[in-house]
Amino acid sequence: MSIVRRMDVAQFEVRKREHIDQALDLKNQADGLSGLDQVRLVHEALPEIDFSDVDLTESCLGQTLATPFFIAGMTMGHPDAAAINQLLVDLCQERGWAMGVGSQRRELEEKSLPEESKKLRRSAPRAVLIANIGLTQAIACGSDRIQSLVDSLEAQAIAVHLNPLQEAIQGEGTPEFRGGIKTLARLVRDLRVPIIVKETGCGLSAQTLERIASVGVSTVDLSGLGGTHWGRIEGARAPASSLQRTAAQTFARWGEPTVTSMISARHVLLNSESQRCSVWASGGVRSGLDSAKLIAIGAQRVGYAQPALQAALAGEESLRAWMEQQEFELRVALFCTGSANPAELRKKEGVWSYGRS
Ligand SMILES: Cc1cc2nc3c(=O)[nH]c(=O)nc-3n(C[C@H](O)[C@H](O)[C@H](O)COP(=O)(O)O)c2cc1C
Repeated sequence: MSIVRRMDVAQFEVRKREHIDQALDLKNQADGLSGLDQVRLVHEALPEIDFSDVDLTESCLGQTLATPFFIAGMTMGHPDAAAINQLLVDLCQERGWAMGVGSQRRELEEKSLPEESKKLRRSAPRAVLIANIGLTQAIACGSDRIQSLVDSLEAQAIAVHLNPLQEAIQGEGTPEFRGGIKTLARLVRDLRVPIIVKETGCGLSAQTLERIASVGVSTVDLSGLGGTHWGRIEGARAPASSLQRTAAQTFARWGEPTVTSMISARHVLLNSESQRCSVWASGGVRSGLDSAKLIAIGAQRVGYAQPALQAALAGEESLRAWMEQQEFELRVALFCTGSANPAELRKKEGVWSYGRS
């Protein structure tokens, strides 16, 4: 018997293509809801450093990377995925970004598929790669099978994604989260790499963060409300006048905004005597300045999904230019707050404020 519910491969491939198309459609972006527009950084007119002193270098999962950025996991296991991931991994390795792959669910089912992961790793031996699986699959699957996803990619960590809104609204979804926290505890105990627990665009509340930290997870990726919204995407895929289509409108603003999640994480995970978890932030991050704001509140690493996909689909030069833009804008923000590197910005007292101006 199959360990995970056997999926319809044709339906899977169509769904993955539709997800990419729908993620690029602006109506499925929860624009303006991240809270990032309401965060201000204090300008330092006397920075006492040269612009050339600004250094984005940051440690990541035991390695040193040239930037504090990551591409959040998006795609894997279907015909268009290999080319997109190849481009992303090449430039992530070149520029020192970490990179997550999309859900490796299909690799759990089909014996030939680890080749896709192995090929990606062979082409980018120095890249920091993050494997990916949904919690609903992990619940139904032994730890050895999950470890095999890490092994085929030689990944430095695995992201376990939480997506209850998507699973509830998706017609063919698997909204089966019973046993989730026990599963996370099991994976922390059994896997040979760190686990990153991530949302997928609806954020993590203070209570959820507390529960995740209580089982020893070492990193969370908040992936808050404000960018790609999976309730909207699944609604757009659902038949007209279906329950799902209408519910997607009702839940179009559902989720913990990225900034609210980040402030919760600061209180729950970072302000205690010893830091309980490393906090990565994503969800509606759309500029290097957005990234700087999240770093100032406490994020160790900041991630982008949809904008990276859009740039990658426009080709290598476009992706490189987009990455360079994020790096440049973060440098400007560091310089204009008098911070020589991300760690200095994170440590600055009173450098950020939040609230409508
Ligand atoms: C096309 C697409 C596919 C995605 N697939 C996955 C996935 O397989 N696993 C996962 O953990 N997150 C997935 N995500 C969610 C992203 O990792 C990220 O959490 C979310 O899109 C919010 O970031 P953004 O606002 O920058 O897009 C996907 C996002 C996009 C745009």
